[in-house]
Amino acid sequence: MFFRASFFVLNLSKSSDMAKVALITGSAVRLGHEISQHLAIHGWDIALHYRTSTKDVADFEAELKTSFPDQRFYTFQADLGDINQVQKLIKQVVERFGQLDLLINSASIFEPSPFKETSAESLIQHSQVNFVSPFILMRDFANNASNGQIINIVDTRITNNTSDYLSYSLSKKSLWELTKMAALELAPNFRVNAIAPGAILAPAGKDQHYLEKVADLTPMKTPSGVISVLKSVDYILGNEDLTGQLIFCDGGAQLL
Ligand SMILES: NC(=O)c1ccc[n+]([C@@H]2O[C@H](COP(=O)([O-])OP(=O)(O)OC[C@H]3O[C@@H](n4cnc5c(N)ncnc54)[C@H](OP(=O)(O)O)[C@@H]3O)[C@@H](O)[C@H]2O)c1
Repeated sequence: MFFRASFFVLNLSKSSDMAKVALITGSAVRLGHEISQHLAIHGWDIALHYRTSTKDVADFEAELKTSFPDQRFYTFQADLGDINQVQKLIKQVVERFGQLDLLINSASIFEPSPFKETSAESLIQHSQVNFVSPFILMRDFANNASNGQIINIVDTRITNNTSDYLSYSLSKKSLWELTKMAALELAPNFRVNAIAPGAILAPAGKDQHYLEKVADLTPMKTPSGVISVLKSVDYILGNEDLTGQLIFCDGGAQLL
């Protein structure tokens, strides 16, 4: 599994020879794992955030340390549903590494919440994990570093008004609006952008066939895949003019 999606090499790397540090939330599994691995290949030191995937993150940290012995990899546990834990995270990372250059808000919860069955708890929980906590991390990053970059992972669902995942969709819509506000507020020292994937990884209990069926409904007819997101991360990091922007990795689903 290691190196699966990330083993294409682009010239994204760091702008100087100095070590640069990235914090990726939800880095133990799935997309956060792939992004972390990709950045490690390109020389970044990584703060690996996780909540429950204790074994996955420990194995991943060990693999990274073996593969890239000159780089630094440390794990940080925090429940993004717990404000007290979230408010300590940036400080812990900066204390450990001495700096922070990039924050990628990838961790999220994604639970069905059809309009008529959606509870206040569902709205609050999705908002907390997918929107409020990313805000706190962005704010604390801006207060603890003189410059840097932020990438928020949202979802192509922000462009439509379907309400089968009402709580989730609203939390991601909010995160995109926040991305633009933060880009304006924090310029010129920070760049803040977002990536909106479509169905790139099958949810629990589904397989590649599911992704192909979903992709067949999109203009491009082919699953976008994780590599589309990794290329977008590269593009954002390498384009020093880019802020307040959103890149869709959804095979054109946002057009429907
Ligand atoms: N997968 C897709 O096809 C797709 C499509 C559109 C958008 N996206 C977006 O892409 C991002 C990654 O999606 P994904 O499918 O790879 O992962 P995911 O299954 O949506 O998220 C799981 C990750 O979030 C972390 N997490 C969940 N609740 C948490 C909490 N309360 N506190 C801290 N961490 C928490 C988990 O950490 P632990 O495992 O350590 O608990 C895990 O790393 C998300 O922002 C998602 O909305 C994904």
